[in-house]
Amino acid sequence: MLITIPHVLTADQIAHARRTLASAEWVDGRVTAGHQSAQAKDNLQVPEGHPAAMEIGDMILTALGQNSLFISAALPMKVFPPLFNSYGGGQSFGTHVDNAIRHVKGSSHRVRSDLSATLFLTPPEDYDGGDLIIEDTYGIHKAKLPLGHMVVYPSSSLHRVEPVTRGRRVSSFFWIQSMVRSDAQRTLLFDLDNATQRVNRDMPSNPAAVQLTGIYHNLLRQWAEV
Ligand code: NI
Repeated sequence: MLITIPHVLTADQIAHARRTLASAEWVDGRVTAGHQSAQAKDNLQVPEGHPAAMEIGDMILTALGQNSLFISAALPMKVFPPLFNSYGGGQSFGTHVDNAIRHVKGSSHRVRSDLSATLFLTPPEDYDGGDLIIEDTYGIHKAKLPLGHMVVYPSSSLHRVEPVTRGRRVSSFFWIQSMVRSDAQRTLLFDLDNATQRVNRDMPSNPAAVQLTGIYHNLLRQWAEV
């Protein structure tokens, strides 16, 4: 499942993030790439653990913790501390698959990447190119989202970032370990949650509302790791 989460951050939070990141130190993005992806990767990143990345990353994680669409779609168990990348002057990231296990630098924490997320911190009119292209079993999807919107997609998919030929594209990116490892099961739960909420809203007195809620939680009990 590929899903767009709109308005993850407020306008004030985006402005603060852009200011803070503009004054941060940026290094070659290959520092967090695996062996295969290092050959495909050409961008800049704020180093992991940099105070600017920690501060803005915490702001993003706090916002996501209150975002019901994100929680319903991702069923997050662990979220990797957000990282930040920047593409300009023709830079791109060729086709790759994200590493399955990510170690949080300076700690013993590990996150299995079930889902990958990109949060767009530059308005699309400020740069040319830079589309995130995601290939899954349903074909090829393009994401170039409005400022402050985020795309979440299976980490198992092949994906790439097309060359940025004008301006500079700054984004946050990170990985999510879901309580439900299987994309198919997670997608079913998300669909069921949406249908249940609709029944609860439109027919709150119908016994099916309670029944659907029960089925959702009983499936989650079957499938979730906590
Ligand atoms: Ni990737």
